[in-house]
Amino acid sequence: MENLDWKNLSFGYIKTDYNIRCFYKDGKWGELIVSDSEYIDIHIAATALHYGQEAFEGLKAYMGKDGRIRLFRWEENARRLAYSAEGIKMEAFPVEKFREAVFRIVQLNRRFIPPYGTGATLYIRPLLLGSGAEVGVRPSAEYVFIVFVTPVGPYFKGGIRPVDMLICRDYDRAAPKGTGTFKVGGNYAASLRAGMDAKEKGYASTIFLDAKEKKYIDECGPANFFGIRDNTYVTPKSESILKSITNMSLIELAQNLGIKTERRQIPVEELAEFSEAGACGTAAVISPIGKIFDPERNITYEYCRDGNPGPVTLKLYNKLTAIQFGDADDEFGWISVVE
Ligand code: PLP
Ligand code: COI
Repeated sequence: MENLDWKNLSFGYIKTDYNIRCFYKDGKWGELIVSDSEYIDIHIAATALHYGQEAFEGLKAYMGKDGRIRLFRWEENARRLAYSAEGIKMEAFPVEKFREAVFRIVQLNRRFIPPYGTGATLYIRPLLLGSGAEVGVRPSAEYVFIVFVTPVGPYFKGGIRPVDMLICRDYDRAAPKGTGTFKVGGNYAASLRAGMDAKEKGYASTIFLDAKEKKYIDECGPANFFGIRDNTYVTPKSESILKSITNMSLIELAQNLGIKTERRQIPVEELAEFSEAGACGTAAVISPIGKIFDPERNITYEYCRDGNPGPVTLKLYNKLTAIQFGDADDEFGWISVVE
């Protein structure tokens, strides 16, 4: 692709050449079907449309300096999709078929993988939805798995430049024993009021608190939260957040770099104790947080006063992205090369 402005890509949709679909019918998954259409035909009574039977994933393909295409921990996404499927009573998509679909879709859309050095990547979006007709509230007997790709820049504008966030007490994203740990569309619908409110007030994202007590940090819109204090990486333990694969990886990287790690409840007031704070996820990568405003207490927690990410955040960002783009050794066995 010659006419894409790779360095300035937003996190948006750009049409690519192909997507893949696979149908579950009569108790079994069919073959993978390659399509060049951006549309699907769906029954008007499909459970995805009425009752939110839909789950998705997000992972990326990275172009290396050596011209090799790398995927980061795709098995974790395959497993989490199966976990989400079970969470809303859908038929799981087999891990091996997920692998085949993801590798093939990257190969087929090779010309859309942003060049090394642009900071952009090819975002891979697998989704699974209930396509069978039901009017009563029950699981569908038929499912569709789809995977499409689109080239993207960083989710939060500015990449590694700090962004500001707003603590939200007016809306919840997910309840403690609800669907928060599943990557299902309904959680994102539930997050929209808070997200739009934060954007209208000039913030990059909302920070959700635990829905029950509103005492502890949950997560940052579409990313997990972390704070740094006393050379320790602290990240929330909660029953209502997504288990971020990026966060899991940062915990391992931190330990490897001699940084202590804690996964535990983080009371809102502890924001005053952190020297750095950030949001992490596939789309967000690592976004340092510049300021967090708590409207109820009228307090602003400030990090990155000089406009730059803190030293621990930067160290983690550099190490993670070096592994993903193939600039550092894959010492944890996280990378799969797409030939
Ligand atoms: N939290 C939410 C709500 C998300 O949508 C995402 C994105 O997938 C994350 C956290 C980060 O998860 P991961 O690192 O697996 O992409
Ligand atoms: C991701 O990080 O892959 C996400 O799914 C976040 C989002 C854009 C919903």
